[in-house]
Amino acid sequence: MLYDMASFIYEPINALLEKPIGIRKARKELIEKARGRVIELGVGTGLNLPFYREDVEVVGIDISERMLKKAKGKKSPAKVKLVKADACSLPFPDRSFDTAVSTFFLCVVPEKERVLREVRRVLKPDGFLLAMECSPPKNPVFRTFLSGLSALTSRLTGTDFRVDVGNLLKKGGFEILEERSLVNGAVRLLVAKPSGEP
Ligand SMILES: C[S@@+](CC[C@H](N)C(=O)[O-])C[C@H]1O[C@@H](n2cnc3c(N)ncnc32)[C@H](O)[C@@H]1O
Repeated sequence: MLYDMASFIYEPINALLEKPIGIRKARKELIEKARGRVIELGVGTGLNLPFYREDVEVVGIDISERMLKKAKGKKSPAKVKLVKADACSLPFPDRSFDTAVSTFFLCVVPEKERVLREVRRVLKPDGFLLAMECSPPKNPVFRTFLSGLSALTSRLTGTDFRVDVGNLLKKGGFEILEERSLVNGAVRLLVAKPSGEP
């Protein structure tokens, strides 16, 4: 399975890239906003786990056992439980989480609308979603370059810079409360809440 194989190289690559372009700092700022009972979708190797506040309870889900194994080694101030599960069909009751977190997950998962329906289902009505995802950059040359690259990366790793994450969330029944960009918009950070009934 792709992410089982990627688990070995995921962190060395991220260690090289994330700090210089501000993603490590952005993870910290975003994750510190999580409150109450938190579901982290596609928790991966657990790069966000060190940044949770100690008064939250995190359930990190992922379909890759090897990714979860790496995440188990991460320290966190929060109480963390890691569960092997598919975000398309979450094994949790309706309205059971205060916060959902998705970092570089919605931009790789093919079944985006289905995942967002599940997120709305498990979120409490006053809950919110924290997301950091790839998106089309603002600069037209950079956008054309990443769009071309996405034709390849979407097949290899699922990563797609062609989907605007703000529009995706709105179509999926979320209202955007905050949005900011990194790397000329190629990475977007959003805080969103469910709009209306699921
Ligand atoms: C690009 S990694 C991001 C990992 C982590 N969120 C981060 O910010 O570093 C995407 C993760 O999503 C997981 N994943 C992919 N499809 C999934 C699905 N349908 N349900 C749960 N996890 C999934 C992969 O195994 C992988 O760990």
